[in-house]
Amino acid sequence: MITVIGSLNMDLVVQMNAFPKQGETILGHAFQTVPGGKGANQAVAAARLGSEVAMIGCVGKDSFGETLRAVLQQEHILTDVIVSSPSAPTGIANILVYNQDNRIVVVPGANYELAPAHLEASKDLIQKSQMVIIQLEIPKETTSYAIRLCKEAGVPVLLNPAPAANFDVQWMEDVTYLTPNETECAEIFNEPFEQTLEKYPNKLIITLGSEGARYYDGSYPIHVPGYMTTAVDTTGAGDTFNGALAYALVEGQSLDEAVYFANIAASLSVEKFSAQGGMPTLGAIYARMAGLEE
Ligand code: RIB
Repeated sequence: MITVIGSLNMDLVVQMNAFPKQGETILGHAFQTVPGGKGANQAVAAARLGSEVAMIGCVGKDSFGETLRAVLQQEHILTDVIVSSPSAPTGIANILVYNQDNRIVVVPGANYELAPAHLEASKDLIQKSQMVIIQLEIPKETTSYAIRLCKEAGVPVLLNPAPAANFDVQWMEDVTYLTPNETECAEIFNEPFEQTLEKYPNKLIITLGSEGARYYDGSYPIHVPGYMTTAVDTTGAGDTFNGALAYALVEGQSLDEAVYFANIAASLSVEKFSAQGGMPTLGAIYARMAGLEE
């Protein structure tokens, strides 16, 4: 089982033909409300591939919270340990999409009510997990607590350090994998990425969007190329990568195979609108790998 500890957001997505400049009002051409949140997205990515997944998070007692729970249940994700905040609203993300690119503002709401006590109540679940995935849209103290629980139980942790501002470098020792993108990596380590990679062999995996991903295997820098495709919406591509990486590692793939697998998953995800809309099934990934697509 994979347990995801993280955020659930309702994504309020506006599609437009240009990003507004400061002080400018422009017209968008579409508005949609779709499920998101890095935690929920990564849970869906792994579940759609066939992993047994549990989600630990916090939503508000409102219609967004109800919808987000229901969406995860439809994906056969265990939602019993998602708690409801009595006072905070469900988290939202305001997403502007233009030219296959996006700008995101998250208002965490109930996600910031997820406390160490909630993890303590779900300790059994965490301890029996084959891997725990965490991102940084929840309070820092909860992330620290989660990493400590996993360490004590010997459960591998895949930490996706987004947003990077919430990262604590002390966690490096105890996480099994860290998956920043290039911008997050620069923000966290503040040095050329080649240097950082060598410090964390087989642990630090830097995602490069359509260029794939890089890590250091202890002897050589490894670049696993991405699959070139035509992107419609890149929202959630990183989340797809993380969910698929966890799936593949839990299935026993080598790091090299798992990163390749996750790159293919991410390439499929960007071909459809919304964070969760394009997340692939296992069949779609193997069809792409085998060159069997129409
Ligand atoms: O990674 C994409 C996600 O970031 C969106 O779904 C949004 O909710 C934010 O958390």
